[in-house]
Amino acid sequence: MEFSALFKGLTISFLSTALSIATFVPQQAQAQKHTQKHPDLAQMPWMNKALTPDQRADMVVGQMTLDEKIQMVHGTGWGVLRPGSYIAPGSNLGAGYTEGVERLGIPGINMADSAVGIRMAALQSRYATLLPSTIGAASSWDRDAAFLYGSVIGREARAEGFNMSIGGGLDITREPRNGRNFEYAGEDPVLAGIMTGELALGVKSEHVMSDIKHYALNDQETGRNVVNVLLDKRSMRESDLLAFEIAIGLSKPSAVMCSYNLVNGDHACENDYLLNQVLKKDFDYKGFVVSDWGGTHSTVKAALNGLDQDEPGDDNYFSEPLKKAVEGGQVPMTRLNDMVHRILRSMFDAGVIDNPPVRSVVDPFRGRDDAQHIAEESIVLLKNADDILPLKASPSTSIAIIGSHADIGVLSGGGSAQVDAPGGNAIDPKPGPSPWGQVIYFPSSPLRYIREKSPQSNVQYNDGKDNAAAAKLAKDSSLAIVFVNQPMREGQDAPTLSLPDHQDALVEAVAKANPNTIVVLETGGPVTMPWAGHVKGIVEAWYPGIGGAQALANILFGEVNPSGKLSVTFAKSDDQLPHPTVPSLDANAKTTGDDGHHEVGPFDLKYTEGAEVGYKWFEATHRQPLFPFGFGLSYTTYAYSGLTVDDATRTAHFTVKNTGSREGTEIGELYVTLPSAANEHYKRLAGWERVKLAPGESKEVSIPLNPLYLSIFDTAKDAWQLLPGDYKVMAGASSSDTPLNATLHISQ
Ligand code: BGC
Repeated sequence: MEFSALFKGLTISFLSTALSIATFVPQQAQAQKHTQKHPDLAQMPWMNKALTPDQRADMVVGQMTLDEKIQMVHGTGWGVLRPGSYIAPGSNLGAGYTEGVERLGIPGINMADSAVGIRMAALQSRYATLLPSTIGAASSWDRDAAFLYGSVIGREARAEGFNMSIGGGLDITREPRNGRNFEYAGEDPVLAGIMTGELALGVKSEHVMSDIKHYALNDQETGRNVVNVLLDKRSMRESDLLAFEIAIGLSKPSAVMCSYNLVNGDHACENDYLLNQVLKKDFDYKGFVVSDWGGTHSTVKAALNGLDQDEPGDDNYFSEPLKKAVEGGQVPMTRLNDMVHRILRSMFDAGVIDNPPVRSVVDPFRGRDDAQHIAEESIVLLKNADDILPLKASPSTSIAIIGSHADIGVLSGGGSAQVDAPGGNAIDPKPGPSPWGQVIYFPSSPLRYIREKSPQSNVQYNDGKDNAAAAKLAKDSSLAIVFVNQPMREGQDAPTLSLPDHQDALVEAVAKANPNTIVVLETGGPVTMPWAGHVKGIVEAWYPGIGGAQALANILFGEVNPSGKLSVTFAKSDDQLPHPTVPSLDANAKTTGDDGHHEVGPFDLKYTEGAEVGYKWFEATHRQPLFPFGFGLSYTTYAYSGLTVDDATRTAHFTVKNTGSREGTEIGELYVTLPSAANEHYKRLAGWERVKLAPGESKEVSIPLNPLYLSIFDTAKDAWQLLPGDYKVMAGASSSDTPLNATLHISQ
């Protein structure tokens, strides 16, 4: 499937706004017609809320004709995504639409791309909150923040007339240069699985169907349609698939989106091992599998191997051809019934039939406050030499703000996760939606909020385009804050971990001019920092969302004490990575299509590092990263003591004390090394707790040791196995700072 054409002419596609409005009106009219035609709909047996979603789904399936069933298992086409495509009358002009069955009271499914907020709002003059990137939200390690994140998406989806979110990105950061890492949740399967599971629960809490994607091993964008990922089952189950297992177990998402790539020879959307054996059997997943857009490659094979819904559906795999295959017996009717059952049970389960979306005005202030709160917990303080932070505002202070359009806004991530910037791109405002391939800034000005925090200080801005001019302003100021950025987007990976556009040289020039230099990073994932030793402060803000500037100013001036910790390892150089260059990404690769993806031919990608992803790789190969997974500083200090492990209850206890003079929240982390029989050469994250502490206060933390996080996947038995033996349990402040040790004994 040629995806590059997807966004061809996207800008002009929005000329179809008039058409959208025209299509929207009949939809409302239809809804009215629908109620009039079926006054007794509420009396239909499947409308009985006391029944389970499975019972209700079965009843509906029992009433459906073959055509109605077929209609529910494929989308109605590219719609607004491709200019000139058919737009179904019931479509809410999101990324996908699937017809319902009106006579049975089953609504269509209107899907909103919503990795970091609802996409394509501008098309209908709607507004959507840009949340901080999910890699940032994962760095909060705050389950409540992740739930809140999902609930903002659910709330706004619902207000905009969508009943399904297709966000929930969960491909772990195996490839730190992956263009979509900003829409995923970091490198560790336990952290990513829990945070994404909470996010999906938040979506469902608003009666909107949730989704988790892209299943599986879609860990780089380069060649995503043609790459054949080769990985052994044990490694797969203990890394990428474990993240999905945890998120699915926790949140029971309405849908799981299968990915574009192949895994061990079969496309993910027709991969019996991934879909039937692992997802549906082992994970006991009851919802439906939806293809990524254009990710379906067959009818019979895909249907038999576990795909339940083909999107966007105009490839015709699951329309007439599937009907014929069912009539001809190549796909049993029971399998088609199963597909439809799964879709319907997800609809009943999320409540989209009992509580359909009610259109209303999205509350931008509430959205901004929520986004700001999440950003304040996501931002990670990486360096704070001489306690340069928090800043103390005074009349004698002069601050140079340099680079990255920090006078105007904050950066966002691109591709199908792009939220439309209100008023257009803040650095080049034009009416209309935010186009796919552009670098889009949102109107949240760091300069403005830094000035507000320090009204007596002289705060000046330089755009950073000329190193000498930037250095001059830095020299004339008492301190300099350099903003650096790494724009990332779907369809492309970063060629290296280095900051683009010679920004390293800018930082060096400023740091040389003024030793009191602080760097604020707006990146989609980890980057290298050759200048780290020459600056006093480093703050990772990720893409901080619409409340980003306020959050950042609160952190810089100490109104918020930073508590975020890295959800990914920051390497010193690309050479330290398992794959020193992005596989198949030739520096001279041609980019094609308006999405600018790199055109490459089919290739095998052997993940030789196995389950040694991120910090596990660094530990197993004795490499020292620049900043380790789980690392983050605070304006106060903490001490860890008294780790004990109770073998009977399999619970670890330890104490965290605030030894500084400010209130703060510390993320106490727990790691485990398995007995030698596991043949693993790294520690695993086994749990954590966020502990809020007043100065001098201590709290005991108790963390149950979940056997799943401690098990190996035994491929001979095709099952998880908790090995007997001694487990080294460690507690501390990061993956490479675990001062406390204890032993957990697991007997035969
Ligand atoms: C992306 C999905 C997205 C879909 C629909 C694809 O390009 O991989 O994440 O949901 O498009 O926009």
